[in-house]
Amino acid sequence: MLIACIGVFCRSATAPQQSTVYTSAELEAGKQLFSSLCGNCHKINADMSGPALRGSLARWPNRALLYAFVRNSKSVVDTNAYAKGLYLAYNQTVMPAMPQLTDNQIDQIFAYVEANSQP
Ligand code: HEC
Repeated sequence: MLIACIGVFCRSATAPQQSTVYTSAELEAGKQLFSSLCGNCHKINADMSGPALRGSLARWPNRALLYAFVRNSKSVVDTNAYAKGLYLAYNQTVMPAMPQLTDNQIDQIFAYVEANSQP
């Protein structure tokens, strides 16, 4: 099982989502990554060419699948019904593969997303 630990907080890649506390440095790193890699297509609180990322964490059964999708969405679209549905709903746009992103970096992006989500 994959476990990511930052400070005293550990996140399981395969367990259901849990709320976690992030440091301001992690949130800042997530903001930078989001702006440079995701912001062309995604907003946090509104749909654009990609869906609003607000609540996205909770829509995935586990983080491992979400990590895989962000790194190479096509591989998950081919094997997962939820991902396939999104792909069809969004004009069959393939998200650019970003294999260089680590689990930690993806966690940081979603920490930033969660911290800036409107209720
Ligand atoms: C070129 C546009 C584009 C870029 C850049 C992009 N995405 Fe996407 N994203 C999409 C589209 C379109 C979808 C809808 C699914 C599909 O078409 O495969 C999507 C879907 C998603 C989903 C699923 C959303 C849900 O409701 O469950 C997540 C999560 C996601 N993107 C995260 C990211 C992250 C994180 C980044 C940056 C690291 C990123 N995307 C960069 C276009 C993009």
